[in-house]
Amino acid sequence: MTLVDGRGKASLLTCPYHAWSYQLDGQLFKAPCMDAVEGFDPTVCALPEFKLEVWLGFMFVNISGVVAPLAPKLADVEPFLKNYNAEDRHSTQTWHEEWQTNWKALVENFMEGYHLSVTHATTLDWITPTELCEKLTAGDVFTAYRSNYSPSLPQRLPFPVDLTPKEQRSSVLVNVYPNFVITVGPNCAVFLILLPVRVESVVIRMSVLVQDGADDLAETKGYIDLAHAFNAEDKATLEAIQRNAKPSFHPIAHLAPEAFGGLIWDFTRQMTRLLINN
Ligand SMILES: [Fe+2]
Repeated sequence: MTLVDGRGKASLLTCPYHAWSYQLDGQLFKAPCMDAVEGFDPTVCALPEFKLEVWLGFMFVNISGVVAPLAPKLADVEPFLKNYNAEDRHSTQTWHEEWQTNWKALVENFMEGYHLSVTHATTLDWITPTELCEKLTAGDVFTAYRSNYSPSLPQRLPFPVDLTPKEQRSSVLVNVYPNFVITVGPNCAVFLILLPVRVESVVIRMSVLVQDGADDLAETKGYIDLAHAFNAEDKATLEAIQRNAKPSFHPIAHLAPEAFGGLIWDFTRQMTRLLINN
């Protein structure tokens, strides 16, 4: 049974099924009517333990317990994110959607700027046109690119004081393989956690992150509206792609240049490695 859900504070975790309660360290606190069970020792009963890492303010749970720590493998992307202080931002709006597309198509869509000026002709082209996209670095567990802002875009505010002039006018987009993507800009960030439901369906948990005190700014509200608008455009595109995703329709084709297609190459190569190794 899911012990807890949502957000809040609690001094005990109580299971909603039979009301077994646990301390916050996982140790069983109380199990109703179990005193009568011979051989039941509550002191050796506890919730299972998992390794946990915090990176960029996100908690990553190592369920298998055998994979290597994540953070060292993300070290190469940290210089590009460091000045944005994304770990100090908080969710100002979180929502869930289900899109009728394959989750990998959504990762690819998020990580390539090739479609920005076309799919998002009225929403993002004037902010982050395709031609200004720049591939950053990639590693065993991630790939990343920078979407530079159009010179005519007014400065997005507020931004952390450490940002360089280039960072003030760009967003950094990262895919931590396989199903976590984030775009970090000067004033806001958006992350997506992709939860595949079926081959052709994915539930997405999305959230907009802002700096302290920025929740009610007009700039923040404008960004949230923008996020909903470009998401709607991506949803319509990806669902159309999914409807046509039949093997017999797939010719051999070329990827776009490195600045756009390179990210798809990184992701596809890593997915292939995972499939071969499993
Ligand atoms: Fe898009």
